[in-house]
Amino acid sequence: MQAEPTAQAARVLRCLSAHAAGEEKASGRRTHAPVTSSHTPKVIAFANQKGGVAKTTTTLNLGVAFAEEGHRVLCCDMDPQANLTMSQGIDPDTLEHSMFDVLAHGVSIRSTIRKREIDVACASIDLAGAEIAMSTQIGRERALQRAFREIVDDYDFIFIDTPPSLGLLTINALTASHKVIVPVQCEYLSMRGLAQLQNTLDMIRENLNPDVEIEGILPTLVDTRTLHAKEAIEILEENFGGQVFASRIRKTVRFAEAPVKGMSVLRYDPDGIAAHSYRQLAREVLNR
Ligand SMILES: Nc1ncnc2c1ncn2[C@@H]1O[C@H](COP(=O)(O)OP(=O)(O)O)[C@@H](O)[C@H]1O
Ligand SMILES: [Mg+2]
Repeated sequence: MQAEPTAQAARVLRCLSAHAAGEEKASGRRTHAPVTSSHTPKVIAFANQKGGVAKTTTTLNLGVAFAEEGHRVLCCDMDPQANLTMSQGIDPDTLEHSMFDVLAHGVSIRSTIRKREIDVACASIDLAGAEIAMSTQIGRERALQRAFREIVDDYDFIFIDTPPSLGLLTINALTASHKVIVPVQCEYLSMRGLAQLQNTLDMIRENLNPDVEIEGILPTLVDTRTLHAKEAIEILEENFGGQVFASRIRKTVRFAEAPVKGMSVLRYDPDGIAAHSYRQLAREVLNR
């Protein structure tokens, strides 16, 4: 007589985990590493639960700066607002497949990728329903990590733009990442949110991805003329020391103009201060 399907499934799972543990021991490799392959792209999430701090702007422009240095870059849009997708001139309403289908239905991430200045794994507004659609999925926190497995050989870097909340989409991003870059608008209230992000990262490290670390904190929208901005950066450096990047992203209207044209600032105004500051940040991240 055949064993009950559930008992059979339990046996298979036990077998698989014992096998994985053996393999892990033999190779000294951790099986929960964000992506596993001989070639492993470095995965960086751009996160801060506050909106309007330049997460999307930084994901795109740093991605383009890395591409200028010859790296193969995928920028993955995990925000239902789809600003990253739109900022490369892609209309989210015309997509056949988007990150929602990848996370909720296991569709191949390749089917969401559009080639622009960098490759973009596109999102649309239906991503707002992902949390509910995934609520009964086992291992739902690792859906993005699983999706990346098939493209590990295609990229040197995967950048993930996250929504302004610490829900399941951001948890997926942090679980799939090696590093986190935290753009912070230099105002006192924005900086308070950093403690909240650190608590979330502690939880992710404890339960899902023990190795994820902050790559750096990036002061954005810096208005160098105001005393408040100078004081805010001082407070940031007092509290986070070497974690604060030396690069600063100044406030300039170019950042609002470029996405309207479907371009990064590096293409829109290649010799401007905005492009220069993201190229400088790229060098800083690459040399860390
Ligand atoms: N350095 C900057 N100077 C001026 N405006 C900026 C700068 N960086 C971003 N912006 C603008 O601020 C707004 C919010 O940026 P965005 O990247 O969408 O933030 P987030 O993704 O954190 O919500 C956008 O309109 C963007 O064009
Ligand atoms: Mg955004």
